[in-house]
Amino acid sequence: MIVSFGERMIFLGLILISVSSGQGQECTTIIKNMEYSCFGRNLTHIPSSLPFTVTSLDFSFNFLISLHKCVFPLLFNLLFLDLTRCHIEHIENDTFYNVKNLTTLILTGNPITYFGPECLSSLHNLRKLVLVDVGLSSLQLQMNNLTKLQELRVGTNNIQSMSLPLFMSTFKDFSLLDLHANNISMITTNETAVFREIGRNMTLILSRNPLLYIEPGAFKDIYLKEFHIQSAFVSFNAQKECLEALAGLNVEKLFMGTYRSQWKVQVSNTSFLDGLCAFNFNEIYLIQKEWSDYDMHLFRCMINVTKITVKKAYIKSMKLFPFCCLKELHLGITFLSVVPVISHIPSLEKLVVKNNIPMTFNGISDLPLLQFVDLSGNLLILKDCCSQFFQRTPSIRYMNLSQNSEIGLVSKPFLGLDLLEVLDLHHTKLVVVFYFGCLRGLKNLKYLDISYTSITLTKQIIFQDLNNLTVLKMAGNSFHGDALSYLLQNLTNLEVLDISHCGIEKISRRSFFGTLKIRHLYLSQNKLMTLDFLAQPELKPLTSLYVDKNSITSISLHVLQKLPTNLSEFDLSSNPIDCSCSQTDFILWIILNQNILKQPENIFCKTLPPSSDLRATDFDIDSCVHKKRLTIALSLFFVTVVVLLSFLVYRFQFYLQYCCILLKGYRSPGQQECSYDAFVIFSSYDEVWVMNELMENLENGVPPIQLCLHMRDFQAGKSIASNIIDEGILGSRKIIVVVSQHFIDSAWCRFEFELAQSRFLMERNANIIIIILEDVEERKTKKVLGLHKHLKKNTYLKWSRDPLSNMRFWIRLKKAILDH
Ligand SMILES: *[C@@H]1O[C@H](CO)[C@@H](O)[C@H](O)[C@H]1NC(C)=O
Ligand SMILES: *[C@@H]1O[C@H](CO)[C@@H](O)[C@H](O)[C@H]1NC(C)=O
Ligand SMILES: *[C@@H]1O[C@H](CO)[C@@H](O)[C@H](O)[C@H]1NC(C)=O
Ligand SMILES: *[C@@H]1O[C@H](CO)[C@@H](O)[C@H](O)[C@H]1NC(C)=O
Ligand SMILES: *[C@@H]1O[C@H](CO)[C@@H](O)[C@H](O)[C@H]1NC(C)=O
Ligand SMILES: *[C@@H]1O[C@H](CO)[C@@H](O)[C@H](O)[C@H]1NC(C)=O
Ligand SMILES: *[C@@H]1O[C@H](CO)[C@@H](O)[C@H](O)[C@H]1NC(C)=O
Ligand SMILES: *[C@@H]1O[C@H](CO)[C@@H](O)[C@H](O)[C@H]1NC(C)=O
Ligand SMILES: *[C@@H]1O[C@H](CO)[C@@H](O)[C@H](O)[C@H]1NC(C)=O
Ligand SMILES: *[C@@H]1O[C@H](CO)[C@@H](O)[C@H](O)[C@H]1NC(C)=O
Repeated sequence: MIVSFGERMIFLGLILISVSSGQGQECTTIIKNMEYSCFGRNLTHIPSSLPFTVTSLDFSFNFLISLHKCVFPLLFNLLFLDLTRCHIEHIENDTFYNVKNLTTLILTGNPITYFGPECLSSLHNLRKLVLVDVGLSSLQLQMNNLTKLQELRVGTNNIQSMSLPLFMSTFKDFSLLDLHANNISMITTNETAVFREIGRNMTLILSRNPLLYIEPGAFKDIYLKEFHIQSAFVSFNAQKECLEALAGLNVEKLFMGTYRSQWKVQVSNTSFLDGLCAFNFNEIYLIQKEWSDYDMHLFRCMINVTKITVKKAYIKSMKLFPFCCLKELHLGITFLSVVPVISHIPSLEKLVVKNNIPMTFNGISDLPLLQFVDLSGNLLILKDCCSQFFQRTPSIRYMNLSQNSEIGLVSKPFLGLDLLEVLDLHHTKLVVVFYFGCLRGLKNLKYLDISYTSITLTKQIIFQDLNNLTVLKMAGNSFHGDALSYLLQNLTNLEVLDISHCGIEKISRRSFFGTLKIRHLYLSQNKLMTLDFLAQPELKPLTSLYVDKNSITSISLHVLQKLPTNLSEFDLSSNPIDCSCSQTDFILWIILNQNILKQPENIFCKTLPPSSDLRATDFDIDSCVHKKRLTIALSLFFVTVVVLLSFLVYRFQFYLQYCCILLKGYRSPGQQECSYDAFVIFSSYDEVWVMNELMENLENGVPPIQLCLHMRDFQAGKSIASNIIDEGILGSRKIIVVVSQHFIDSAWCRFEFELAQSRFLMERNANIIIIILEDVEERKTKKVLGLHKHLKKNTYLKWSRDPLSNMRFWIRLKKAILDH
């Protein structure tokens, strides 16, 4: 390559930039200590950080310019080195000394101007040398020491002669020479000498060369494993003459014709392939872009081959060529409108016709060895398939009739095809007259694809003989009622089941009874809402499950706990997942099991505005936990408060009642008309004394003192508390408290006394008269609020049976009551 001074300066500038920016740009580790990639890092040197154990280094798309001994550090383990497009111009003699154990060296796309004559000499172990597009003009390289070389790829160069150095005839393993896209126009006998010596296993690629002339006999007695001569001739005439000159050549696999990308050309001479008759080949692979108004004699020179693959060709009819040993016939895109009659080729084992245009098929027969028939994609219409169309072809094991127009299955459609193992009918409209028995007898069937065949499966037993079936694909059909519950019963060996896109709303528990080996289950694009069937023991072997695009909102905890243990692929995407706090178990499961979930990023929450797309994996479970905690805390607090309040209400019911009454309207004592002189607070145990002594002495005395006694004066129908307050405490001027042991023990008495104190506390008027009926321990008086204090501060009256003090008692009492 000639580079101008300016270009060189720009280039050096770029290198300088990349030196400064390339620093610290480490290579990518693919396998630690073994495989590294420094692809496209703009590096100008091999990083010293590479471990010396590295075995594979991709250093393509960097800047190395000149290779010499110091470029590579000591990397004796390095086997694979890719230096594609590193701007290498100069390779010195001892360049590869430090990496001398290389087995593969790739130098593609470098503008090499100087090749040190000894530069490859140290590579004793090199097996594959790639010198594509390096400006090479000759194969005379100093490769003497490359005795283990297997592949030499020198495509896209300016090589004009395919002559290899003579010493290469001793390279025992040499098996591939790729000379595509060079400038070879002439091949002479001298140039092929090495090939004659090398042996039988060579692959020679001469495609895209401008071949004009081959010396007749140049390839005589040469055996090639593969011979590629696509677009290898300058003209049709050259092609014809060159092919004829190949006489004596033996080829296992011949690649002929043009490249796919080439345009079609019209030819007038339909026998331009006749040159193929001059040499022997076993298999041919052909893309033919030549077409003619006349019938082309494409197969005339192929009658001895065992395999024909026509990827593309303009053939309109296929004559009855007497193929002697054809085993495989592949016909791609041709102009054939009828599947060729091949019944006269008894050796045929495999027939593939994929035309992509409408064809007709009149059947084939008497092919005892035929095993494989692929007629997919031909828009065929076959009424009353299939025995009719395949007669006396008992060995067929593989039949692919998918992507055709219409196939009718009438009665015993597969009679005589007992060995069928694979039957593919997908995307072909099936017209089934009797479902019952339509697959009868296919005991060996292992693979059945009836997806998208517009059938409605009913309860009718259709798979009854298919005990060996391992793969069943029925996607894109429909099921009548709960037909699915009955269909799978005898399929004990089923491992793969595809019933996607079938409008299934529910899968009943009995559907999988009898199937014990299902590992892959496809249920995408149905209308399932629950996955409860997953907990069934029959589905334990499941490893992959696809339920994407259904209507699943949640999976209950008991199903999640019973999921098949080996499940490693679970597609739950595009379902309306319910992301509410009641589903935290399920969502937590999703978050924790993203490793087995397919496309976890496509599992969205069903939220009210359908446009908002919250991913289930982004759902904040903590907020639910907080909410839950808050709820629990609040309810606990509430319960505590209620209990506490109830306790307080119970404990202080009297005061509460008192408060109520006060609130209802506390009449000021000033305006109060006191109807009693004194209200007596006493225990009912002391009633006898009160009636006999107190009442007797006070009410009947002079002046009579009007007492308020609860058993006598309280109004009926009024609550006790109101009575105590209205009649007793507020309705009396004074309060007499009869203190006794019973008084202290009685809650009511204590209550009344406390109420009384509260009244007189307000009025600041010590109008409580205490009568000690019997001695009470001081300790006990403390039990009654205020009593002990009252007794200490105020004088009280003490009852005694002694008549003298008795009289004094009554006088003092009366005085106290009447005192204002
Ligand atoms: C390498 O250099 C080219 C321009 O010379 C630049 O476009 C590219 O981004 C650089 N690559 C890296 C990895 O620095
Ligand atoms: C490379 O080796 C050849 C032959 O051994 C020798 O003639 C040539 O001078 C050497 N080149 C360099 C640059 O050492
Ligand atoms: C090439 O091989 C020969 C013999 O095996 C050896 O003497 C010679 O040193 C080798 N050349 C290099 C550069 O290794
Ligand atoms: C190809 O080779 C011919 C001579 O055989 C030569 O005239 C022509 O220039 C070469 N083409 C190229 C692109 O090198
Ligand atoms: C061709 O290669 C195969 C292995 O690829 C080998 O078994 C066979 O012996 C070779 N035949 C000849 C003639 O070298
Ligand atoms: C096919 O093989 C026979 C002998 O085996 C031979 O006579 C005949 O020429 C061959 N035909 C072609 C087209 O190679
Ligand atoms: C049948 O042919 C179709 C179309 O060529 C292909 O996609 C499918 O994989 C084939 N079926 C089998 C079971 O190989
Ligand atoms: C299952 O197979 C048994 C015998 O192998 C047969 O009697 C029965 O009818 C079959 N059931 C179904 C649903 O195909
Ligand atoms: C098919 O199943 C039968 C038993 O029903 C068995 O004898 C036979 O070997 C199986 N065939 C294949 C190919 O597995
Ligand atoms: C799960 O896989 C292991 C290992 O492949 C296997 O031994 C085991 O039987 C499987 N479990 C189920 C339930 O199929």
